[in-house]
Amino acid sequence: MKKEIKITIEQDYFDILQTFKESNDIKSNSVAIEKILFDNYANTLEKTFDYFTINNRRYLGSKTKILDFIQTSIDKHIPSYSSFLDIFSGTGVVANHFNNEKTKIITNDMLFSNYVIHYAFFSDDAYDKDKITELLEHLNNINPVDNYFSKSFADKFFSLNVAKKIGTIREEIENMSDKISKREKYILITSLIYAIDKIANTCGHYDAFRKNSLMPEDFKMKHLDIDNSDNSGNIILNSDANILISDIEPVDILYLDPPYNSRQYISAYHLIENLAQWDKPEVEGVASKMVNRKEYNSEYCLKTAIEAFEDLITKAKAKYIILSYSDMAKKGNDRSNARMSDEDIIRVLENKGSLVIESIKHKPFSTGKTNLQTHNERLFICKTH
Ligand SMILES: C[S@@+](CC[C@H](N)C(=O)[O-])C[C@H]1O[C@@H](n2cnc3c(N)ncnc32)[C@H](O)[C@@H]1O
Repeated sequence: MKKEIKITIEQDYFDILQTFKESNDIKSNSVAIEKILFDNYANTLEKTFDYFTINNRRYLGSKTKILDFIQTSIDKHIPSYSSFLDIFSGTGVVANHFNNEKTKIITNDMLFSNYVIHYAFFSDDAYDKDKITELLEHLNNINPVDNYFSKSFADKFFSLNVAKKIGTIREEIENMSDKISKREKYILITSLIYAIDKIANTCGHYDAFRKNSLMPEDFKMKHLDIDNSDNSGNIILNSDANILISDIEPVDILYLDPPYNSRQYISAYHLIENLAQWDKPEVEGVASKMVNRKEYNSEYCLKTAIEAFEDLITKAKAKYIILSYSDMAKKGNDRSNARMSDEDIIRVLENKGSLVIESIKHKPFSTGKTNLQTHNERLFICKTH
């Protein structure tokens, strides 16, 4: 008898397929089973959820699962605060957690795709929800044609039909630019990113795709779960943290969650960045990565990461600095090894103020073949001089 599996919006189709195969001991790719499972998945998502929440995205290093730990640690060591700068925001889930009437959040990420998502969720610009409803209806029913996106990504990360639909929708959003506000445009692009991330033929990043997979033939954009009432005064930025740090006003809490190994985010999320920017650059290689992607490489993925970190900390103007840095070093493969040693981190932070370290056990979101062991997620909390 087949074991039932529960479907939640946090999962994407390929997670569910994997769980189903494992729980029913199915080795090969059966088109029939995949089809039933996908229809089931699509129906459940369709019936149960009519919006995307900010944490419905797969992202390397996302802190969704340790938000409570971050909150508890802050409550323990920081008596009060009213501004929170999340300077390596990624998905934005940490900033989102601290986004309320009492706390002004400032988000920043060097990737434009993350900026678009942060702007959609956190900006205090007004937007017309009815207009978004109409536009979602229009875009979901668009007539797909061949385009840059389908030429670059079809039969890799998406089926031909889906790739055509993604590119056609993105082009249509671009063509609407003078009829919709910046926020409305970014809400639509974010909805597109979230919708396709759920059905992408990947294990969570776009370095590679799964071979011989049956790929879903459709997807649906939805509203975003936005609460504008908390967004007053938020600031959303798209810069290199080390450049931004000199220009920004002092804050109560500066939260740092830099990449901690050699994997460049632009390489893992090139497809999402390409779609968000929509400059249609030349692409190369099996995964069709943008040829100009190296412009977005982060210094925190290099062996010299500590130099960038020291520069950032020296220039930082904050009452408290909190660094998230796990103790993955030497537990995963080479690519997973941390770029900064504990000794160096402690030296730099102790120069800036008094330091405490909080830690919690965590099983990370693992991608690819590396079977990562449980490790400690640590928060280095520095009260500055
Ligand atoms: C570990 S992730 C952050 C994850 C995030 N806290 C979350 O929960 O989703 C690191 C982020 O830093 C960004 N990044 C890397 N180097 C940067 C730099 N020099 N300036 C700004 N952002 C950078 C990457 O694009 C990536 O999104």
